[in-house]
Amino acid sequence: MFNSAPIDTSDKPRLYAELAEQARGLLGGERNMIANAANFAALVWHALPALNWCGFYLYDGRELVVGPFQGRPACVRIPLGKGVCGTAAVTRQTQVVPDVNAFDGHIACDSASRSEIVVPLFAGESLFGVWDVDSPELARFDEADRAGMERLCAVFMEALAPAHEEAA
Ligand code: SME
Repeated sequence: MFNSAPIDTSDKPRLYAELAEQARGLLGGERNMIANAANFAALVWHALPALNWCGFYLYDGRELVVGPFQGRPACVRIPLGKGVCGTAAVTRQTQVVPDVNAFDGHIACDSASRSEIVVPLFAGESLFGVWDVDSPELARFDEADRAGMERLCAVFMEALAPAHEEAA
């Protein structure tokens, strides 16, 4: 059984470093993508304060389709280039949105969302999907969250296809 130890949420670099360690322990050794994605979303949901949604949108070869998540039911399909998620996928850049109402084309799945961060996920050069986190607080995410979320996502992608095996 996995039990996460309490983490000091005021020190973001330390919080994300500890969370990355926990993610490595939780996901390492398991290759089932759905299992790992579900546990990853649950880990982040319970560790980070002030979230109202966190989860995956997975690329099906045409568009982004909602995957394992925590929070209220969400929009199912997001075309590439649309919303914060589709923008992250096309630009290949993490999107940190301090005020979702000021983001042109933001897709409102939950009217409680005020700020959002979306990390694009790539397996080599191929789009895998995006990791999307919403908050009911304005400007909930900053550069420390960007660095931390990217680090966490690297742990998730590495668990799916460990680099040492890719190279073999
Ligand atoms: N706000 C996202 C849509 C997904 S929900 O936040 C879960 C967007 O604009 O792409």
